[in-house]
Amino acid sequence: MSHQITVRRASVDDVEGIYEMLKPFAEKDIILQRSRDNIFQHLQEFLVADYDGALAGVVCAHIYGKNLAEVRSLVVDPVCQQHGVGRLLVEGCERWLAGLGVTKIFALTYVTGFFIKQGYRIVSKESLPHKVWTVCVHCARFADCDEVAVEKTVAEGFDQKMNMMPIIEVEER
Ligand SMILES: CC(C)(COP(=O)(O)OP(=O)(O)OC[C@H]1O[C@@H](n2cnc3c(N)ncnc32)[C@H](O)[C@@H]1OP(=O)(O)O)[C@@H](O)C(=O)NCCC(=O)NCCS
Repeated sequence: MSHQITVRRASVDDVEGIYEMLKPFAEKDIILQRSRDNIFQHLQEFLVADYDGALAGVVCAHIYGKNLAEVRSLVVDPVCQQHGVGRLLVEGCERWLAGLGVTKIFALTYVTGFFIKQGYRIVSKESLPHKVWTVCVHCARFADCDEVAVEKTVAEGFDQKMNMMPIIEVEER
């Protein structure tokens, strides 16, 4: 039997699930730690991958300016990884941001290969504006950051409607 995983905007009912999903990766310094309050305050930035009402993954899209946004806090539940959920979440962010008029998207990441497969290219961290680092200063690895900056220009003509959020079919786990 197959199930659908859909990408949708997060709601207040997702906050605990988002918190629990991010926590183990934050504890390993793979992503930045977020408190429940922080997730509530930034909830408009979150998309979730919904698997029959449970969360399969989350991502956050933070806008810095007219032509720059960051994909951050990207996590897929380990039992759902390697099924296209990460790609679905990144694509959802791209559609969403393109719909808002933002065309350049970047990420700071340890999974460079994953982003390259989604059409991102490596750029120098110095090419990013200073305001990008205001969040990074809270990271334990800030002084010795070995994340890689990747960037993508969203193609013109990208279908930007939220109701066109991508969906995938997965076999029952
Ligand atoms: C990175 C992560 C989000 C990928 O999610 P996922 O659902 O497993 O990825 P997908 O199944 O959508 O993978 C899409 C493609 O990228 C590839 N890919 C996945 N993870 C990869 C990795 N770490 N390195 C290189 N390629 C990777 C897949 O093989 C697949 O390739 P294909 O198109 O040839 O089939 C997930 O592994 C994760 O949550 N990791 C821990 C947290 C993390 O590192 N987050 C990133 C913070 S920026």
